[in-house]
Amino acid sequence: MKVLILNGPNLNKLGEREPSIYGTTTLDELEQMCRQRATSFGAEVDFRQSNSESELIGWIQKEGVNASAIIINPAAFTHYSYALREALSECACPIYEVHISNIYSREEWRRTSVVSPVAKGVIAGLGVQGYLFAVDAACQERDEDHGS
Ligand code: DQA
Repeated sequence: MKVLILNGPNLNKLGEREPSIYGTTTLDELEQMCRQRATSFGAEVDFRQSNSESELIGWIQKEGVNASAIIINPAAFTHYSYALREALSECACPIYEVHISNIYSREEWRRTSVVSPVAKGVIAGLGVQGYLFAVDAACQERDEDHGS
């Protein structure tokens, strides 16, 4: 099984960007953590980041068809990108939305996610660990579907 993990704008700066909110783990370290966790389930990870809405939509359209699940941290696009949401809603596989911070306890404008209605589940506020819980959920659901 393959899990597509997508990261939106500014997450390339993870580790140095507002560490009191997003922590000190870098995106490379997070990728390794996700890869390790997926490997423990015998799953593969395709881990990507882009600052461009267009590139993210392209990946969802092209790579989403080969994925068993998509884990996405849409970053600021969470709050207004109907284009991203529509691309995700076309995917047959389950979508897991992840936020490092608790978007519901921050500024007013962050409290709306236009992506959540098309997600199977949302994890917010648990730091980068949230990605690992999403990998667990994606892989366990897949195992259950296959009766193992
Ligand atoms: C974020 C929260 C968003 O509001 C913000 O724009 C991000 C990161 C998070 O992971 O907590 O870039 O998605």
